[in-house]
Amino acid sequence: MLDFNVALLACIAIFYTFRRLRKIYRLRKLRQSLSCRNPPRFRRRGPLGINNALERLRFRGDILDGLLVKGFEKYGFTHEIKEPGLHAIMTAQPENIRTIMSTGFESFGPGKIRKRSMAPLLGQGLFTVDGEKWRHARNLLRPLFVKSKITDLTLVHKHLERILDFTIPNDDATWSGWTGPIDLKGLFERFTMDTATEAIFGRSVNSQLWATASISQGKVDGSAASMTQGFARAFDISLLGIVIRMVTGRLSFLFKRRKFSSAFNFVQRYVSLQVHHLLKDDLSQPSGIHKSFLAALMEAETLNEKQLHEYSTNLLIASRNTTAALLSFTFALLSLHPDILEKLRSEILSTFPIDQDSDRTKNRPGSSTITAEKLLQCRYLQWVLREALRLFPPIPIMAVEAKKHTVLPMGGGEDGDAPILIPKDQLVMFFPYFVHRRRDIWGDDAESFRPERWANSPPSWAYIPFAGGPRTCLGKQYALIHASYVVTRLLQTFSRIKPAHPTNDWLSAETESERSRLKVRSIRKSGFISLFLRKFQVHFWKDKSP
Ligand code: HEM
Repeated sequence: MLDFNVALLACIAIFYTFRRLRKIYRLRKLRQSLSCRNPPRFRRRGPLGINNALERLRFRGDILDGLLVKGFEKYGFTHEIKEPGLHAIMTAQPENIRTIMSTGFESFGPGKIRKRSMAPLLGQGLFTVDGEKWRHARNLLRPLFVKSKITDLTLVHKHLERILDFTIPNDDATWSGWTGPIDLKGLFERFTMDTATEAIFGRSVNSQLWATASISQGKVDGSAASMTQGFARAFDISLLGIVIRMVTGRLSFLFKRRKFSSAFNFVQRYVSLQVHHLLKDDLSQPSGIHKSFLAALMEAETLNEKQLHEYSTNLLIASRNTTAALLSFTFALLSLHPDILEKLRSEILSTFPIDQDSDRTKNRPGSSTITAEKLLQCRYLQWVLREALRLFPPIPIMAVEAKKHTVLPMGGGEDGDAPILIPKDQLVMFFPYFVHRRRDIWGDDAESFRPERWANSPPSWAYIPFAGGPRTCLGKQYALIHASYVVTRLLQTFSRIKPAHPTNDWLSAETESERSRLKVRSIRKSGFISLFLRKFQVHFWKDKSP
């Protein structure tokens, strides 16, 4: 019996070894016939690269600047990583990114890693599905982003007023001076959570209200506040859970922490409640541009609760942290570059003169002349936003998987100019963050914040904060209009912004270009699938009104 078992095991081992060797042989032949060469491979440390994997699992610092940048500096703009839990082609080459997102689009899909890491929060939603399912979902969502809807500023105006309520210490019309320290990440994450939930569900979580004393003043109901507060927290923890699942790849089962599963559950419960409200009461919401995204989807197609659920979580993840990251990095950068702030403010004030009649009680500069069209025409404002997105793309890394054997045009051989073969199921990670900072593309000041560089267009596919090709961001214009509005209103109100951290002051002794570089670097970054600003506080200055 023992002999039989040994023989059976030996047969199985021989079968798999044979299959593996046959695959290697076929791929080698294919590689030769397509004139492909292998990309450089990240040096493995320890047996099978176990030490690399351990380093990745233990790493606590900034993944982008601390761990991944080493690979690009040492092995070039396209290289391969093969270690337990992660086998990926890493690329920061525009030619490869064009192939992945556009010319070779049909050969790539979201793949298992994205599905596995995002499914607990996003289910079978737009970000995790592929083929016909994805096409159908995208076509259903597209009408939500028609011009008449994205240019409506009612929602952003309403929640922006709350930012002003929150930042300006009192309602006294004559008040002037520096505000207290304001954490940019917290400020804009609350703002985008409020706008996103109202846009999607038709009712806002109003996190800005519960962040102030409004609960005790009776402006919001306390039990609803604790639910929404819990939701905002659970949503953030869930995002972290997704990040960890992505970074740890197949080893993610080691990180099944209770904290993440309860956060995923909390988010699910909250979204279910909103979907339930919608199905029960809210389908009679106002028609036209003010209809919530979900109500508009229901008008176009009958969706069940599960589908509504998936659409809402996918839209929430797409819109909330990305727009918050854009706003917080923009204001952090402006606080470090007073010259750019002044130039931007003068464009804003000349295009939208302060309308003193608008709200005398609160001494708010007016919003009456601001339109989405005019905001998009403010050249310097758009350059500033583009430059912030270049240095800090909110989605710094994207991952796809090959659906069939295919080829990327660059990265093979010693000089990296040869095409590389991408076998079916191969994971490919590409990095807007590193492409956006390549000195050979953007010049020696690639790390500096210099909006003027946008007087010239960059080479194609070297700037991809909103991705590109058929899967390009659907909310691009919506996000840019909202961000432009917030920057405009805040700079109408405040004339100066300074960082609250004294650590930034010593940098002014450096030379101009070095100073800007260090200043940009001094902003701490974190995250993997989404980049956000951490622990950066500023003071805003309000002039005395005339
Ligand atoms: C600064 C803000 C934003 C940035 C940088 C951004 C960036 C991106 C990127 C890089 C993708 C491609 C993701 C991938 O395929 O892996 C994407 C997709 C998407 N974004 Fe945005 N986004 C922003 C804001 C928004 C907003 C406000 C909305 C909606 C209200 C939105 C809706 C979407 C949707 C629906 C997709 C999926 C498209 C598809 O798979 O077909 N985005 N976004």
